[in-house]
Amino acid sequence: MDRHLPRVPPETASRGRSLATRVALAFVLLAVATALNAQAILEGERHHPVTGRNGMVVTSHDLATDAALTVLKSGGNAVDAAVTAGFVLAVVQPRSGNIGGGGFMLVAPGDGGPVEAIDYREKAPAAATATMFQDENGNVVTNRSRFTHLASGVPGTVAGLALALERFGTLSLSDALAPAIELAREGFVVPPRFTEGLEQAQERLHRWPASLATFYRADGSAWQPGERFRQPDLAATLQRIANHGTAGFYQGETARLIVEEMQRHGGLITAADLANYQPAVRKPVRGSYRGYEVLSMSPPSSGGTHIIQILNILEDYPLAELGHNSAATVHYMAEAMKLAYADRSKFLGDTDFVEVPLDGLLSKSYAGELRKGIDADRARPASEIQPGAPGGYESPETTHYSIVDRWGNAVSNTYTINFSYGSGITVAGAGFLLNNEMDDFSAKPGEPNAFGLIGGEANKVEPGKRMLSSMSPTIVRKGDRNFLVTGSPGGSRIITTTLQVILNVIDHNMNIQSAVSAPRMHHQWLPDAIFIEQGFSPDTIRLLEDRGHSVRTTNAMGAIQSILIGEDGTLSGGADPRRSTSSARGY
Ligand code: DON
Repeated sequence: MDRHLPRVPPETASRGRSLATRVALAFVLLAVATALNAQAILEGERHHPVTGRNGMVVTSHDLATDAALTVLKSGGNAVDAAVTAGFVLAVVQPRSGNIGGGGFMLVAPGDGGPVEAIDYREKAPAAATATMFQDENGNVVTNRSRFTHLASGVPGTVAGLALALERFGTLSLSDALAPAIELAREGFVVPPRFTEGLEQAQERLHRWPASLATFYRADGSAWQPGERFRQPDLAATLQRIANHGTAGFYQGETARLIVEEMQRHGGLITAADLANYQPAVRKPVRGSYRGYEVLSMSPPSSGGTHIIQILNILEDYPLAELGHNSAATVHYMAEAMKLAYADRSKFLGDTDFVEVPLDGLLSKSYAGELRKGIDADRARPASEIQPGAPGGYESPETTHYSIVDRWGNAVSNTYTINFSYGSGITVAGAGFLLNNEMDDFSAKPGEPNAFGLIGGEANKVEPGKRMLSSMSPTIVRKGDRNFLVTGSPGGSRIITTTLQVILNVIDHNMNIQSAVSAPRMHHQWLPDAIFIEQGFSPDTIRLLEDRGHSVRTTNAMGAIQSILIGEDGTLSGGADPRRSTSSARGY
């Protein structure tokens, strides 16, 4: 098999200790440092880009950042670090990073070699049906796809991370798992965000005895900041994966625990669903924007396709001249976003099951057609916009992290269990939460999901199908050089959040931290409103309203973790201050 990423250089590999030993040693040192000064480890630098020459890691949790950076410093490559971070996040940030879910990883070799996408999105179980989230009268029963055992797709994370390691890594799966197992077994010091999350989700999680026992103290209250939180069941599950590879999750004891959990509560996932789960290697979608090459996630994500579609529409407007977050710029962005989300509602689904007109959606000429309908001075009501006719049918609480290694190899990874804490249901005895990703299917054509996204026939539930996603791990290249590595959580807002970091860097010439921190806007066609974060001026809002937009201030959107690679190889990391545990570290 072709390995595009450099292996550990022979001179490093032969210098006495093996890579595994050096990684293990580095973790001992890290554990000592943590014990000495836990608070310092929990605090990241957030208000300016963090720079490095040899490696950079940006994740939503300091402990994952540190574990991945330790791997890079010990001679591992970006994929070794990414897989390590993925498992550590599953321990320290169970609300989003989780082995009970799935996601997408983009790997871009530093030598300009082809970018590969690993699709480890969950799949509908074999017994799933198109109407499983409707009652006998055909009405959608929303809670069924969100908070029951029927809400879970077959998890893909373990298979996806293992495949990434097999294709590109230099660490063994058990070495990549070692820091996660240690953190689950020995525990970690709880940061305030961990406590806040569990307090907010209390009602939902207390309902399930295994969730209550796994994530709360004996009296039912949340673990408090500064306390040590241990997860023995999860440690045992991770150890089974370390011992037996993916069979330690998809077969044997872990599979038995998942299937028994399903059988006790009317879930659909069977032993065969687990044994049959396979991640897919895909070609990312590709576009260009003002001389840069944009590579992002292909279906079953809608994210990459619509980021490129919106960029294609916007390319004709002088955004730099119009200014960042000026009324004119926001107007054009909103108009372009509406058109893309309208198309999403009709055309996007899992390309293993349905034909998606990708060539058309990604083409500059279709973007040009759509642009003709945009008026500079007037917002088009959503009701006037319908999915277009792209042509070109081809037959064929989420978390993001970005990593670049000393060879310039880049990994952009977004994975999720959908809502914060997913379905809220923990697999008894196995210590991890189950996703509620089935809500990303359209329960009935035309009915919105939890993110207000409308789906069509292309995204109806079918056995073995992957539900449509918005996750958009993205890598921008300049020539054959990796330039920007980015991606975000945020449901429907992932697409627009990722888009804005690209615009902030390319059009508005911001440093990566400013690009990540700047206030963001969002429009998704329906509901027909521009959502803005705090920080837009009242006159901008007034000018947008004068054009006919409805403007609503909303909570922070997304948590985008990004790396910019300078021409001289300098790495700049921008961690999103919207998550208090986010951190960028380089060396
Ligand atoms: O795949 C998707 O598009 C959603 N399940 C992502 C959910 C999400 O980002 C929630 N986190 N903030």
